[in-house]
Amino acid sequence: MRKACVIGWPIAHSRSPLIHNYWLKKYGIDAAYEKKAVKPENVAQFIVNLATSEFVGCNVTIPHKEKVFQAVAVADKIASRMGAVNTVYLKDGAVCGTNTDGEGFIASLHHSYPAFDLRTKTAIIIGAGGAAKAIIGALLDEGAARIGIINRTRERTLGLQEQFGSRVFEINATMMSDALKNCNLLVNTTSQGMEGQPQLAVDIRHLKQDALVADIIYVPMETAFLEKAKQLEHPVLGGLGMLLHQAVRGFELWFGLKPEVTTELYELVAADVQKAHEQ
Ligand code: ATR
Repeated sequence: MRKACVIGWPIAHSRSPLIHNYWLKKYGIDAAYEKKAVKPENVAQFIVNLATSEFVGCNVTIPHKEKVFQAVAVADKIASRMGAVNTVYLKDGAVCGTNTDGEGFIASLHHSYPAFDLRTKTAIIIGAGGAAKAIIGALLDEGAARIGIINRTRERTLGLQEQFGSRVFEINATMMSDALKNCNLLVNTTSQGMEGQPQLAVDIRHLKQDALVADIIYVPMETAFLEKAKQLEHPVLGGLGMLLHQAVRGFELWFGLKPEVTTELYELVAADVQKAHEQ
């Protein structure tokens, strides 16, 4: 029986098994997807040995994404741009790595707002970590005109600006209110607003009227930031869609079928998140 897994340390809270096992059952595929706790010191060996293991591939979660990028035999363009791998698969016996976080965000956006055309649009990204990098790269690939970044640590913003070039610009706190007036898409990629974390302190009263507001956090499913945006009548996008859509390509690479992100799957994972949130 074919098997895939998600590796992390710790791994108990991963929702990837729920997602992939839903699809395996839905499509009647005789395979399994499981959690595998792999210690940081064993990650490189696990990846190198994948071709001769019981697994056809794996997802990679915190804190292994950078280590796995180093360990795969072949990293594609997107993984190289990220310096991080979240999906590993075998091709002609070689262990290959890619990164689907950016495409997960774009697919989620298109799923919820099919008419939202990124070309000619200006986006503002709050945060400059790994998730920001994935989303900025994907937005640029989709033709976004300009992307502003605001982050606590300025060096990281400048690093992304240098990596991605002239369509990316830095926003500081004093510029923010003006920048928001011309913004079509505002995305929080920081952990601010996540359960147990302080709220995101970004004032969106001056945000362009029809701007779409997104948060990649999915615990809680609707952050205070999104609640505020909704009150101000902005279209909003929560983080759960990105989690589901980033899983699509791994499943297709391992099991040969592009799975659908259904309402039923969304509700299944949402119920699980809700349960954890209430505990
Ligand atoms: P991820 O891979 O999820 O993006 P990360 O690379 O650690 O995680 O990035 C986390 C982001 O949240 C960063 O932009 C971080 O800001 P810094 O670059 O200044 O560290 C931001 N962040 C985390 N905690 C924060 C806080 N308390 N206040 C403001 N920004 C915060």
